[in-house]
Amino acid sequence: MTTTVPVIAIDGPSGSGKGTVARRVADALGYHLLDSGALYRLTALSAQRSGIPLDDAAAVATIARKLDIRFDSNKDGSERIWLADEDVTLEVRKESTGAGASTVAAIPAVRAALLERQRAFQRAPGLVADGRDMGTQVFPSAALKIFLTASPAERAQRRHKQLKDKGLDVSLAALSRDIEVRDRRDSERSVAPLTPAPDARILDSSGMSIEAVTKTVLEWVAEL
Ligand code: DC
Repeated sequence: MTTTVPVIAIDGPSGSGKGTVARRVADALGYHLLDSGALYRLTALSAQRSGIPLDDAAAVATIARKLDIRFDSNKDGSERIWLADEDVTLEVRKESTGAGASTVAAIPAVRAALLERQRAFQRAPGLVADGRDMGTQVFPSAALKIFLTASPAERAQRRHKQLKDKGLDVSLAALSRDIEVRDRRDSERSVAPLTPAPDARILDSSGMSIEAVTKTVLEWVAEL
């Protein structure tokens, strides 16, 4: 069945700014937001808490299928993420959770388990979906596909500032190494690797402010 609810897919590597841009674009358009990375992060977190090794594909896929999660926001608009009845917002954003997410995201059965959950976010009036495979796998007929990138050094700097603002302390050198490892794993995995869709518009945000990137995306939306 074809649906007319528009999807704006924003894919790209860690620290490209896509999370912030996706949120701003969704707010500006009054659209729903899918932070697909959070689903992989929550899967890793939930598995870790249940004592399940992240390489136990079948057990982790079961966790992904059964995830009991809720996305919420505080009065100031900042995010709040719940795993069952526990607020896990900070834990979800930790680098260790990101690394776990990248590991479980390479398991085909986990990606399959999360597919329909992601597609269910496509509700009127529209959706901005942020991730690695939004334009290639989850929403291949998205109205607009953007591949947002930036130089590795700039991505590490941005991530560093973002984590510091959340009160999470991590060294820039460690973060640069983490980003490099994660980029490689996300790009080289056999299932749904991080790669631009053939019909994606590439946006290199190196040296651009979040405002400028958001404005460019909104201009592209207006051209649809
Ligand atoms: O965007 P993020 O940092 O929250 O993503 C965490 C990890 O999840 C990332 O390293 C790769 C994986 N991921 C994915 O494989 N597919 C997506 N659509 C989103 C995230």
